[in-house]
Order: sequence, then C-alpha cells, then structure tokens
Amino acid sequence: MYFKQFLHDDLGCSSYLIASRDSREAAVIDPQPDVQQYLDLVAERRYKIVAIIDTHLHADHVSGNRDLAAATGAQLYLHEEADTLFPFHALRNGDALHLGPIVLQVVHTPGHRPEALSLLVVNPPRSPEPSMVLSGDTLFVGDVGRPDLGGPDGAIQQYHSVQKLLQLEDYVEVFPAHFEGACGKGMCGRPSSTIGFERRFNPLLQLSEPEFLKLTCQPQAQPLNMEAIIATNRGEADFEWAMPTYSGPVPEVTIDEAESLLGGKDVFLLDVREPWEYEEKRIPAAYHLPQSQLATRLSEVPQDRHVLVTCRSGGRSEKATQFLLQMGYGRVSSVLGGTQAWAESGWPVETG
Ligand SMILES: [Fe+2]
Repeated sequence: MYFKQFLHDDLGCSSYLIASRDSREAAVIDPQPDVQQYLDLVAERRYKIVAIIDTHLHADHVSGNRDLAAATGAQLYLHEEADTLFPFHALRNGDALHLGPIVLQVVHTPGHRPEALSLLVVNPPRSPEPSMVLSGDTLFVGDVGRPDLGGPDGAIQQYHSVQKLLQLEDYVEVFPAHFEGACGKGMCGRPSSTIGFERRFNPLLQLSEPEFLKLTCQPQAQPLNMEAIIATNRGEADFEWAMPTYSGPVPEVTIDEAESLLGGKDVFLLDVREPWEYEEKRIPAAYHLPQSQLATRLSEVPQDRHVLVTCRSGGRSEKATQFLLQMGYGRVSSVLGGTQAWAESGWPVETG
C-alpha cells in the first residue's frame, strides 16, 4: 500500500493519494485544482490514477476532480446525492472501490453536506478491519464539520454521522479533508488523529445530542466566495479564479486612520459580514457585501477608490483584502479590529 497526505496551507485543506503497490492502481481523494502535483507523483512512482473521489461538494475551494479526470481518464466518483450538472459515478453507503487488494468502503455521512461521505481504508493483507478513515468534513481533529451548509437537517444528520464513525475501533486513524479553515471552527491544526483520541478529547464528542445541536447550530459566517466556488464545483459556472490563493502581507489601517480617511470621497468602505451582523451594528456608510458573494458581485467594488475592508474584528477583512489584492485591486486595506474596535473607540454606529 502507498498512502500520501497533501497539506494545502493556503486553505487548510488536505487531499490524499492511496495506491496499491501490487496493481499500481491509485485513487485521489479531494483533489486540489493544481492537479500536476498528483500527476508528477504517479509518474515518478509508476502508479496509475484510476479513481477520483470528492468526499462532498466543497464550499471553500475549487475541486480539481474534473481536470484530473480529464488528464488521466480515471473515473470520477461522488455520493449519489451530489447535485451536479456533470456526470459522475454514483456512490452509495456500503459500496466498495478496489485498488488491487486495497478496499475503500463508502460510508454515507451527511450533515456538513447532504452528499458527504467518508471512506474506510482496508488493507486485507494486513487486516480485514479498516485501519484508517478519510473522514472528509464529517470528523475533524478536535472538531466536526459545520452543519449549516447541509440544509435544515444538517446538524442532526451530522450528529448521527459522527456517531456512525465513533463505532470504529479506537486504533483507526482519522484523516480529515481539513486541518484549518472555514468548514469548522475549533480544529486543533494537526493533520490527523485517531478515533480513540477524538472519542476521549474532541470537545464536540463529549456533548449530549441536544448540546451538540445547540452548539453546532450557532450562526457562522459563510466561507469567502462560497457562491462562486459552489457554482464551479457543481459545474454550473467557471469561477476557478475565485479561489483565494494569495496569502501575502495585507495593508492595514487603524480605526483612527479609517475614521479620518472616511471623510474623503476617494474612499469606499466595504463590510463583508453576514446580514444579521450588518443590521445589528455597522460603521456608517459601510457598503454591505457578504464575503460569500464577494467574487460573484466583485463589480460592485470600485477599482478607482481606496477600498477599506471591515468585518467584525479583522479576521474576515484580512482574507477579503488578500482576495482583492489577488484580483488586482491597487489600493485596498483591512480595518484593524473591525466594527467591534470602531464601536469600542466610541465612534458612532448605525443599526437596522
Ligand atoms: Fe467542506
């Protein structure tokens, strides 16, 4: 067996390549858009990619699934509930994919998304039992995947999907699709764990069902450029450029600098928070454009003015500023401390 985890630091995602050293067949799970890294690896090690599987339709990054399928001729797999405009081989709970002697067993784990699945990895020459689970965005290290992208029943489904994975033995290694990023809120940063460690120390797994539902249902900001990224991953549009790739330094302004700049006509204040946050409290004259829609509504952000980007406390505005820099905006700055710091400084706010 050959197993490799690819860590993508820009978005905190993990992708995987699993291969049989006997048959030389390989599967790639949750491929990133840069598919050359997988092609180079299999060329160097003389494997052949025969299967490409996405654990779900991603909301925070564009999948390389179709590009990799086109480059290799491999079959593209998703769970049967995936709502795409392109054809794929449908997987159901209990299905098995074979790479020589290695078996990938499909477990439907809806919640984060309706079509979310996990893969149990079985290597029969060593054991008839699974030794690893690729847990997608169902179970993270120290967290679970956010259920609010999974529809009205997302949280309850996520609870039961996680319970399903907890039926595995303690020694089973957990390899999720994220070690950081917007698909969870409490990931510890490690790229892998075990079922036993998570059972004992994952804070979400210590909760009763009502407590779990209450905590995971708290409203969260939707991922940056989510609308464009989901449309791309569904095959209804091509917004591959919307995937945030720039992670360099960000120009910043303090609250006092922002206040004095806002007097001038040359400045455009962009508030990238969610609607309920904007209605509750905002800096006067802030233009509202939630970060999930930034790419699809980019034309609303003027190129010829100094764009100040604000959010609640400065985290989202930093990422949105990086994206605007990526898109060629010349004058753009993140407001340090965001709306919270503005209000704490005693400057007036608007509501409603
Ligand atoms: Fe996800």
